[in-house]
Amino acid sequence: MLKVNQNYLKLPGSYLFSTIGRKVRKYSAAHPEADIIRLGIGDVTQPLAPAIVQALQGAVDEMGHAETFRGYAPDLGYEFLRETIARKDYAARGCEIAADEIFVSDGAKSDCSNIQEIFDADCRIAVCDPVYPVYVDSNVMAGRTGTYDPEAQTWSDVIYMPCTAENGFAPQLPQQQPDLIYLCFPNNPTGAAITKEALQEWVDYANRVGAVILYDAAYEAYISEEGIPHSIYECEGARTCAIEFRSFSKNAGFTGVRLGFTVIPKDLKADGVALHPLWARRHGTKYNGAPYIIQRAGEAVYSEAGRSQLREQVAYYMKNARTIRDGLRDAGYTVSGGVNAPYIWLKAPNGMTSWEFFDYLLDRAHIVGTPGSGFGPSGETYFRLTAFGTYENTVRAIERIKAL
Ligand code: MLT
Repeated sequence: MLKVNQNYLKLPGSYLFSTIGRKVRKYSAAHPEADIIRLGIGDVTQPLAPAIVQALQGAVDEMGHAETFRGYAPDLGYEFLRETIARKDYAARGCEIAADEIFVSDGAKSDCSNIQEIFDADCRIAVCDPVYPVYVDSNVMAGRTGTYDPEAQTWSDVIYMPCTAENGFAPQLPQQQPDLIYLCFPNNPTGAAITKEALQEWVDYANRVGAVILYDAAYEAYISEEGIPHSIYECEGARTCAIEFRSFSKNAGFTGVRLGFTVIPKDLKADGVALHPLWARRHGTKYNGAPYIIQRAGEAVYSEAGRSQLREQVAYYMKNARTIRDGLRDAGYTVSGGVNAPYIWLKAPNGMTSWEFFDYLLDRAHIVGTPGSGFGPSGETYFRLTAFGTYENTVRAIERIKAL
């Protein structure tokens, strides 16, 4: 008899942000007068920078003429973009990454959920707790996580590395040995960053035990302090133990445009097998390449005009982050993040759970945030606000919270 993939039935009812969306739609329908401010999902609000719009328009024109029209893009990305990334992103930081070690895609979410396909079904994953739900959910779909304990909100085969106020929201090396270690810095959801020395310890550990680090650096453009690595390849030895995911969503406002890339160094092996050709095979079979028009827009992110316009955009969001952080502190909240990341992580007041605070804030202040418990058990009683709103809405939201 035909059966569905039973692993899908083990997943929580819906993806965290879909659950929030549903709750907010229900609230809005019941309270049509409510002027809701959305600081939940980390979606950008500023328009595309002029340099990017210009590149998009130029590429659309090219597609409209027979001489410059392009069909299928190369599976792994156009040379012009891969070469620009290698030179202006990695070489400029002193990282040894070649253009043909970069795989262009439609975004980091797809890559960091698909990457587990090239590893054995029995491999053991370690994740930070709280964690971006995609890492765990994609492994649940692949049947790698064991059984779910609804009380503890944990999967039996997953190694959770608690990130709490006590350890500065930085994971400790795990007691049990994982095969794959998901790290995201600057961190979603806590907004915490990692120093180069601390990341070097992870790289040394992974090389020592033969694990692979899956490093999500989607928020690197928000780093404002010295000593915080923008790429894991700034660490010595990372070429033999790390895959890096990067996104254009947050540094260039491409959440609706879709573009990202993954770096797999050719020296990286698992069990003696090089991973680069496996991912190239997977990409070639299952993906037809990011659109030419979008890859030209990605190239413009690295142009002089693009860089300076995007620096301003990041500064705009970081002004929001400061407004939220300072405003919440003034109102007596315990707050972290928002210095090297566009997320502010706060403790729910008066012993409320994360979802109680979500309901309270929605009902009393008409503000949508993200409950910390949605990211894992150690997120319980915490709450995440994003700095990606407009400045005006951010200021209004903080005024409303202060008035509560
Ligand atoms: C978030 O809110 O955590 C992010 O927007 C999710 C994502 O980047 O997919």
